[in-house]
Amino acid sequence: MLILGIETSCDETAASVVADGGRILSNLVASQISVHEQYGGVVPELASRKHLEWVNPVVDQALWQAKTTFSSLDGVAVTQGPGLVGSLLVGISVAKSIAYSYNIPLLGVNHLEGHLYANFLEHPEMTFPFLGLVVSGGHTELIHAKAHGVYEVLGRARDDAVGEAFDKVAKLLGLGYPGGPIIDELASRGDPGAIDFPRAWFKDRDTLDFSFSGLKTAVVNYVKRMQNAAAKGEPRRRRECRMRNSEGRVQKKSNPKSQIPNPKFRIPNSELYDVLASFQEAAIDMLITNAMKAIRLKRARRMALAGGVAANTRLRSRLSRMTSQEGISLYYPSPKLCTDNAAMIASLGYYKLMKGITSDLSLNAVADLKLGR
Ligand code: KG4
Ligand code: ZN
Repeated sequence: MLILGIETSCDETAASVVADGGRILSNLVASQISVHEQYGGVVPELASRKHLEWVNPVVDQALWQAKTTFSSLDGVAVTQGPGLVGSLLVGISVAKSIAYSYNIPLLGVNHLEGHLYANFLEHPEMTFPFLGLVVSGGHTELIHAKAHGVYEVLGRARDDAVGEAFDKVAKLLGLGYPGGPIIDELASRGDPGAIDFPRAWFKDRDTLDFSFSGLKTAVVNYVKRMQNAAAKGEPRRRRECRMRNSEGRVQKKSNPKSQIPNPKFRIPNSELYDVLASFQEAAIDMLITNAMKAIRLKRARRMALAGGVAANTRLRSRLSRMTSQEGISLYYPSPKLCTDNAAMIASLGYYKLMKGITSDLSLNAVADLKLGR
């Protein structure tokens, strides 16, 4: 059974053909990073224009690479939301046209649910129930996935999503866009225990919600203080802030004289790396603490990581260690399937079709589409 998936919820124009819900025959992603990076974030108007330009060639190429044609498809799956309305509408219009012209089922799917299904593509042995942690540029959600289409959201970000915090910190430090992969790479050269940035916890100790905006502000204020002190010729106070090296790791040395990669805050590389490693560690601490609480609460035996931030090397390795200590099976997709793609949309579409859940031609974009609706 061949499903064409189309994904245009944010700044990637993606199309993919997946056979029987699990075999990827093609998986194309036209990234708009070069369009948006000069603005340090996605510009919605530009995103929808680029989707319009690219969607047809990307769909054609996905069919060509899969060595198939429109008339051989058994269904067309498309992201209905959440996402940018103008962007979503481009993919939805194309999917509707294909479904109507070739008289095949139209499958409108939830983008967050799609991220979880990236795991089924690579780990067919994964079964329900499992605990899902979807971490992306727009969402941070802890989900108890009970069966196909049956979800309970246990916690979510109340302000910035975790990927957004990575992107904003990178933007404020002038490091580039998207910030997550850049910080992942630079943080590996620093000491995650160098600076004790605040972890946000709510008064309600039972909540599994997240907050990342305070952490982002703390990082920016810290760097500004460092810079001001340097400008006044005061000795660097960084060492006073050093609380601990959480793993007793010997701090990696970098050449303090080498050129710094950020033009905005001119601080030596070694200090920048420590700031980024400490920021990343604080963000990951918050994710892991709530994930482990949720695992215990639901007595989960399996956990699936998904979304762009699931590509983060430190998050993957720390969560692997924590879950293996508790005897939990942890699944995460390869980096290409963590970030936005259409193979995950096609895979989810297949499972929907198998359950007889299809959409009609009145399908519309829903910017804040919730899981389980
Ligand atoms: O899932 P995704 O491609 O798009 C959304 O649905 O939002 O996620 C994009 C987010 C961005 O915030 C990006 O900075 C982050 O994922 N990201 C990472 C890494 N790779 C991508 N964050 C941390 N470490 C990474 N290696
Ligand atoms: Zn996404």
